[in-house]
Amino acid sequence: MAQDHAKLYPASDDFIKNAHIDRAKYDEMYAQSVSDPEGFWGEQGKRLDWITPYSTVKNTSFDFGKVDIKWFEDGVLNVAYNCVDRHLATRGDQTAIIFEPDDPAAEAQHITYNMLSEKVNRFANVLLSQGVMRGDRVVIYLPMIPEAAYAMLACARIGAIHSIVFAGFSPDALANRINDCGAKVVITADSAPRGGRKTALKSNADAALLHCSDRVRCLVVKHTGDQITWIEGRDVDVKAQMQQASPDCPVRPMGAEDPLFILYTSGSTGKPKGVVHTSGGYLLYASITHEYVFDYHEGDVFWCSADVGWVTGHSYIVYGPLANGATTLMFEGVPSYPDAGRFWAVCEKHKVNQFYTAPTALRSLMGQGNSWVEKYDLSSIKLLGTVGEPINPEAWNWYNDIVGKGRAPIVDTWWQTETGGHLLTPLPGAVPTKPGSATLPFFGVQPVVLEPTTGEELKATATEGVLCLKDSWPGQMRTVWGDHERFQETYFQQYKGYYFSGDGCRRDEDGYYWITGRVDDVINVSGHRMGTAEVESALVAHPKVAEAAVVGFPHEVKGQGIYAYVTLMNGQEPSDALRAELEKWVRAEIGPIAKPDFIQWAPGLPKTRSGKIMRRILRKIAENDTGAMGDISTLADPSVVEELIANSIWKL
Ligand code: WT7
Repeated sequence: MAQDHAKLYPASDDFIKNAHIDRAKYDEMYAQSVSDPEGFWGEQGKRLDWITPYSTVKNTSFDFGKVDIKWFEDGVLNVAYNCVDRHLATRGDQTAIIFEPDDPAAEAQHITYNMLSEKVNRFANVLLSQGVMRGDRVVIYLPMIPEAAYAMLACARIGAIHSIVFAGFSPDALANRINDCGAKVVITADSAPRGGRKTALKSNADAALLHCSDRVRCLVVKHTGDQITWIEGRDVDVKAQMQQASPDCPVRPMGAEDPLFILYTSGSTGKPKGVVHTSGGYLLYASITHEYVFDYHEGDVFWCSADVGWVTGHSYIVYGPLANGATTLMFEGVPSYPDAGRFWAVCEKHKVNQFYTAPTALRSLMGQGNSWVEKYDLSSIKLLGTVGEPINPEAWNWYNDIVGKGRAPIVDTWWQTETGGHLLTPLPGAVPTKPGSATLPFFGVQPVVLEPTTGEELKATATEGVLCLKDSWPGQMRTVWGDHERFQETYFQQYKGYYFSGDGCRRDEDGYYWITGRVDDVINVSGHRMGTAEVESALVAHPKVAEAAVVGFPHEVKGQGIYAYVTLMNGQEPSDALRAELEKWVRAEIGPIAKPDFIQWAPGLPKTRSGKIMRRILRKIAENDTGAMGDISTLADPSVVEELIANSIWKL
């Protein structure tokens, strides 16, 4: 509990003076947001421009069996209008997007709101010309290039639902998502340069489309000019079409609860779920959190280093910043290319004011030494943020001292694909931080800590348990695409009346929250969520594998690494070559992010007498915590455990 008494880090007096929200305001607004959510959000809803104003604000139920979440349900708006058109009169010539290419020698682009408007309109017309209509699904499989934002906003403009698939996913993973959402179109690029290397996106898309309906069109952004296969009648040259398309495309009025996008994310069981976010509540929530959590002010340059393929990129590269008329930076590359100073070089070059990244990136850069940071003038930085996993004190201190020079408050933001935006986070002018704590709830967010087995609400301030939410907030996901039952079962069944986050947490005596990590079979690898079941099913799909069990284990840079126990088919011999083959196999089935960090050959897996794999034991072995195995009396054959311990990664 030493951390509870950790030093408090308040923002400087200057920061607090200029901040949108100070402590008194936070307390007052928070109190109203939970005592009168209708009044609070009804008022905040005015941040957006509505074609038809809403007359009702909140209509939500967490009751298992009839979970239903609606915000501003009779309001009509258009998300692209809110992110682009409404800014044109006042800030048409202001930069909306700064694009920093992978190659540091290539010129950065400054895309004004006027330019963005033209691109989005033209892109929207290209989609219409391909027969994309309101409610149709469009899969986006693009690098981190401005066309990704154009494509998202073009969908929003015409009421199509986008589903971005991270460009690091394999053809199989792409095909599954195209098929699950029944996409009419997939938008890709010839290839994606990252860190000086290129991923052949178009050929991945070609491979994926072999497993999809032959009616799916492929819209190709010729980005690098690399040679690609072209299928006449199916493939469309986006840039050429955009040139011919009209720069005017009327916005489609959309209901607040019409889906804006689907984003697939891993869970503890089965295939990835299509998380559905809708238009009004999501955009409002992305916008308000972007402004208050990052204390964004007029004229600031905001940089979120995530990929648009993750929810962080949706909410804090595109929708939140653009709804606020901000300048948002989009970076195509990686932190380590051409060297470990790239992040800071970009911050200096574009005079970044708020920088938002993941602890894993900080840990890897921290290992390269301070000189990479110190080379650059980072005086523009006013605030730093982190997301994706708990940040360890070493990384926090490095971020604070070396990057922020002790001047920039750090916002550690806890949230999920499902939540649309930040739920637990300091408001930097209001809440002094503690390294490693996501601190307090955002407006309207009512966290509760439950006893994991009984589900009883733990009311003491200082306590520990599972983290749930008592009531809805506008950015909450509405359903799982095509499977509302699964939505209810995943989030509302185990603890009745609450939204269950899947995370464990501790609340200290100051009421600050400390996320302790997932309590389900989800692991967090470099801030990316991975279902262990997914990796297992990829492994067992290999003809030489009989059985596989996957757990997380502590990894210095990634936070958690992927630890796979593999039992081979009778007659198969373990070898390094086979290990490499299995690693390659998983990369091909899911993508590079799912490649196991360690494969342990397991002649047998610990099972109960009824044949259930005892993951708890496998987790302990992978964590090198074999002193306290807990109850192993239900184990069918205890000798397997000894054998696994003797050959674990820790005994190498
Ligand atoms: C899971 C959600 C939405 C952001 C990107 C990840 C973990 C996220 C924090 C944080 C501790 C965090 C949780 C959560 N997580 N942020 N600040 N401190 N843990 O989105 O892929 O949906 O993963 O990431 O375990 O449940 P995601």
